[in-house]
Amino acid sequence: MPLHLLWLSLGLLGALQAQAQDSPSPLIPAPPLSKVPLQQNFQDNEFQGKWYVVGLSGNAIGREGQDSPKMYATIYELKEDKSYNVTSVLFRKGKCDYWIRTFVPSSQPGEFKLGNIESHPGLTSYIVRVVSTDYEQYAMVFFRKVSHNREYFKVTLYGRTKKLTSDLKENFTRFSKSLGLTENHIVFPVPIDQCIDG
Ligand SMILES: *[C@@H]1O[C@H](CO)[C@@H](O)[C@H](O)[C@H]1NC(C)=O
Ligand SMILES: *[C@@H]1O[C@H](CO)[C@@H](O)[C@H](O)[C@H]1NC(C)=O
Repeated sequence: MPLHLLWLSLGLLGALQAQAQDSPSPLIPAPPLSKVPLQQNFQDNEFQGKWYVVGLSGNAIGREGQDSPKMYATIYELKEDKSYNVTSVLFRKGKCDYWIRTFVPSSQPGEFKLGNIESHPGLTSYIVRVVSTDYEQYAMVFFRKVSHNREYFKVTLYGRTKKLTSDLKENFTRFSKSLGLTENHIVFPVPIDQCIDG
């Protein structure tokens, strides 16, 4: 290649990279809700209690360039008004972090929206749908939110224990892929003992 053309292409490459850094990287579009099943006859009382996050997938979840995330747990407690008090506990920087929010029942049993959304800066929409659960062993839950005008979605595979059968994990992987996600967007957090056993 003549030298001046090489310089030209290098210059172009630099310009393209600069452009890519300016705008946030594109996200896999969220699926239409018609692609997301809903657990029939959802029993809110039976769903209560602690769930370990055994699997996690989503358009902002990735395993490149980072260690596998540590397992965390989410506790659902029904309040008198049938909303859930939802507490996640994470082990971060050597201590236990708690994250508390409210899920308010929405159009059908098993569907929720975030309570008090005004208190979350930039968040304009947040929905939760329980895809399937047997209450005693596992659950798959779909989340979709719009934050600062970007649409994120994720699926959690919850277990009552830190380990689930490979069948359940494969079903979760299959479901995640049916929503447009690839292997790179599916992680299985590493079980830990700190914070999440209490
Ligand atoms: C919600 O959960 C948190 C943490 O477990 C607890 O401190 C709080 O009292 C609960 N609130 C209600 C209304 O149950
Ligand atoms: C498998 O995933 C589908 C969603 O794709 C769900 O409807 C079904 O209940 C799941 N089965 C099990 C055993 O997890």
